[in-house]
Parts: sequence; C-alpha cells; structure tokens
Amino acid sequence: MHTSPVTLIRQLILILAIACVPGAGAREAAGQTPIIDFQERFLPQVARHAMVVGPERLAAEIGTRIMRAGGNAVDAAVATGFALAVTYPRAGNLGGGGFMLIHLARDHRQTLIDYREKAPAGATADMFLDANGAIDRMQEFFSHRSAGVPGTVAGLLYALDRYGSMSREQVLAPAIALAQEGLTVSFALNFEINSRAERLRLNPEARRLFFKADGSAYDIGDTWRQPDLARTLQQIAEHGAEGFYGGEVARRIVAEMEAGGGLITARDLAAYRPVERTPLRGRFREFEIVATPPPSSGGVHIIQMLNILQGYDLAAMGHNSAAYLHHLTEAMKLAYADRSRYLGDTDFAEVPVAALIDPAYAARQRRLIEPARATPSANIAPGRVLGGESTDTTHYTVADSAGNVVSNTYTLNFSFGSHIAVPGTGFLLNNEMADFAAVPDTANAYGLVQGAPNAIEPGKRPLSSMSPTVVLRDGRPWLATGSPGGSIIISTVLQLLLNAMEFDMNVAAAAAAPRIHHQWEPDRLLAEQGISEDTLRLLRSMGHQVDTGGRTLGRTQSIMLRDDWLFGATDTRRPGGWVAGY
Ligand code: DON
Repeated sequence: MHTSPVTLIRQLILILAIACVPGAGAREAAGQTPIIDFQERFLPQVARHAMVVGPERLAAEIGTRIMRAGGNAVDAAVATGFALAVTYPRAGNLGGGGFMLIHLARDHRQTLIDYREKAPAGATADMFLDANGAIDRMQEFFSHRSAGVPGTVAGLLYALDRYGSMSREQVLAPAIALAQEGLTVSFALNFEINSRAERLRLNPEARRLFFKADGSAYDIGDTWRQPDLARTLQQIAEHGAEGFYGGEVARRIVAEMEAGGGLITARDLAAYRPVERTPLRGRFREFEIVATPPPSSGGVHIIQMLNILQGYDLAAMGHNSAAYLHHLTEAMKLAYADRSRYLGDTDFAEVPVAALIDPAYAARQRRLIEPARATPSANIAPGRVLGGESTDTTHYTVADSAGNVVSNTYTLNFSFGSHIAVPGTGFLLNNEMADFAAVPDTANAYGLVQGAPNAIEPGKRPLSSMSPTVVLRDGRPWLATGSPGGSIIISTVLQLLLNAMEFDMNVAAAAAAPRIHHQWEPDRLLAEQGISEDTLRLLRSMGHQVDTGGRTLGRTQSIMLRDDWLFGATDTRRPGGWVAGY
C-alpha cells in the first residue's frame, strides 16, 4: 500500500515514543526507519500534528481525538484530565487538585492555573495532633479530615473556559462514555487496584466501586463500569462547576463529611476558586525555564538548583559521573533545606521567592559546595536568603498543531488518596491535608521537613512539590515535562531538564537515564539502578550516604518540540504509560 509523505511524517513523529507496553506509543510508527534520516527531507511538509503523553492509554487517546476533532491543547488537556478520573483512579481524579501550566502560542505567553486543594474553614493548626501532642498519622493520611477542598473540577473548567475552544459537553463526553459503558481492565489498572486492595476494602464505598460484588478484584480483560462516576461527570457537563460544588454532588460530599467526622462544608465547596498565577522564570544557559510558583515549591527549587549548577561545566564532568552527581546532590541539599524553612502558600505566608531564585543567591550558595566532599546535612542550615507509603500523583503533557502546550500535574496525594469514596458519586477524596506541616519543623509523609509557612490554616493551600515545567529556546517551547513522586518530583524534573539541556539527550534517553535524589533530610542519597558501582564507590568515599534500595524515582511524561517536530516519551519506570499522537 502506498504511504503518502505526510502520513509517513506523522508516523515518524512518534518514533521516539517509548512505553513499557510493547509497541506502546509508537504503534503507528513501528518498524519505520529512524527519524533523523527523514527529518530534514520532510520538514517543509510537516503540516499539523498533536500529541498527548500520559500515564494511561485510553485517556491519552481521548486527548488526541479531541485535537483531531478541532480542539486545542487545552481542550485536550481538560478531556484527558476528566478521562483519567475514570481510567486511572489512583491519581486521576475529581476529588483532588493540581497545577496546569499552559503555553499560549498566539499570545507568546505562559500562564499557570493553580487548582490546589484548600484547607476547609474548620481546619486548625493542631488538627492532626493526639491528646499527647503527637502527630496522629492515621488521621492525617486516611481519615475524612485528610481531605482538602477539591480543586480539580473548578481548575479544569476554568482552563476550558479561559483557554479552550470546545464546550463542556464535548470535552466531558468521552469520559462519561467510558464510565458508563465501561472500560477493559488493563494489566496496569489491575495491578494498581490490587496493590491497594487491602486499604480500599476498608471503606465500604471504595470496596463497592473498585471490586466485584463478592469483593474480588476485576481481572485483566474484565469490563469495569462506573455508573455513579458517569452521573457525576454528567452533572458537571450540564451544570459546570455548580454540578460538583453545588447540587446533589456537594450534598453527598457534605453528608459523607458529617458521617465521617470530616471538615468540608457546603460553604467550603461553594467558595472554592482556582487561581491564575504568573509562572516563575529562570535561565539556564540559552534556555528559559517556565515553572510552577507557590503554593508549589517545585518551580522555586528547580530554578534555584539550575542557578547553582550553571556555575559548573557539568557536561565536562560527564553525565552521571561521580563529580556530576556530587554537585547535583549538594545543590539538592541546599535547595531542600531552604524549602524546609521558607516555603508555603504565598497567599498566607511571606515567601522570599525572588530572593531564592536570584542568581546572586545561587552564587553565594555555590561557595558552600566543596568540590569533592559531601557536606553532612546536619551542617547545612536553610540559607539566609535575605541577607514509606508508596504514593501517587500524575502528570501528562499535551502539544497541539498550533504550538500550544499544556503541562499538567494533578493528584489525590497518595495513590487513591484517603481511600475514602463519597457514596453515590464514584470518586475518592484526597488526603492533601497531609502536605501541611502537622507540626512545623517535623517531617511529613515524604520525609520532608516543613516550616511554619506551611502550618495548617483555614483556606490555605498545602505546600506542594508538583512541578509542571516548560522550557523555551529562542522564545519557543522546546521541552515540557512533569512527574509524580512527592518530594522526588523536584529532583526528577531537574534531572530530566539537565539531561536534555546540558547533556543534549533526546527526550527518551533523558527520561530513561538513572536518577538520584537527596532532600537534605534525611541525609541519604537515593540512587536508582544503572549508576555504576565505581561511581557509587567514589560518591561514598566523598562522604555521601548512598542508598541503592532498589526503588525507582519519579515517572516523567514529556514532549520535546524541535523544528516543528514532536518527540514524546513516557517513563518506563511504571506500567501503562502512553504516547498518543497523529
Ligand atoms: O503536592 C505534592 O507535592 C504531593 N501531594 C504530591 C504527591 C505525589 O506526587 C505522590 N506521588 N507519587
């Protein structure tokens, strides 16, 4: 059969796509010749293309279908976000929150939609302390009080209203259909539910939602229907935010809160609004970094660490050499130490953002780094700037043919959040209140020490590490990425950016390369498999407490945009990821 050059080009765009399902992402491209040979020849003919890279196939394909039908990247991102609430319940959500970073091609600008959850009005600083003043982790992680006021529905609808082109009904239709008609349980979905089965079964509504009537798990290949969730999505399609924050859905949330000792009231729901914020900006060599501002700590520290690191010739040290990993680790320690002292919701606390991302501050911090000796965390204090549980979040990235790009990270916090479902609605409650400092200067679920700026206050947003990021080159989007991983998000995104910007890796190699993580406290350098033994030995000899523990770090979903080409890479560290495009 004859293949036209345009079809061929579209197919080739996907060649760099990788996924852990055989052939995933590169389905249409399988068996083609490497892209580089064709790029130059066909470049003038590249007309229109679009891509969604995300943690789950059906939702990614829904995003591309929306763009094929004439929608832009925001329409696709909103449709994908609602679809993931159906297909990827561990982190896709209606009951959580997140951050959406958008590049608007026509206006040559970027904007950030903060739809992070908020503490209910009834929240208090000591709400997770028991009678002895100790933190009650069960209350913090797995109770009705764990839930912040959800932001996802308001955030996605705000994005659609401001920057999308389609109707609510159009972008919600695929998610509603999937929930109503059912989806075929994949290996990944089966695995995700099974790995949390014990706790999910503790909540009667979660048990009803995620398991068969006899309590057994859906098998791979079974059809899983979610009629309650379809009805909730339908309410949103018909009534907009009011269909979630008012009416029957809100009544059900409030009833569940009252039954379970939770704090969210009808008034909290009605008052929830997303906030459009100005993204943070930094430079790394010829690249411009557009990043997420507070109440996420991600952008501040990614820019801070890049500022510190650009004082070194990292490329000359060599990728993942001991010298490089040493400098990377020391920069991480300095940044995470600052996070512990200064970061919180800027609507409530003074956060010295400008000072933290000032290159002059980075120059001072660089002097604290010894060239071949690890500084123990105990000797690192947050800088004077003015002078356990397995967890889940999810990220997806979208690019459309008009040059718009969306980088979105959203979450319930832990995998399946609080594991508490709201009866009759089909969705789970987040446990984002655990991202506050239950007691300032103590460690949270991610071992992150957090300071007074992140103490619990009514109406405040808990400090996040979510880091949807866009890198510009010559003023145009060049790379968009993000990751789950709690505290590990920041170091994961940093390394993906450095792999691409400093080490000139293609996006697939940048995603696959072994990562490290250090967050100041505990004083432990986590290293993925694949870093050589002699490198680890050198790091130990410099004084690093290296922990190879076997865990993987982060799960990026990235698109690189080069010469009008889109290169997508889903991270193979977890199953189910997908690159969809045309
Ligand atoms: O906002 C945060 O930083 C956390 N709630 C994110 C949680 C997360 O990434 C868990 N995923 N692995």
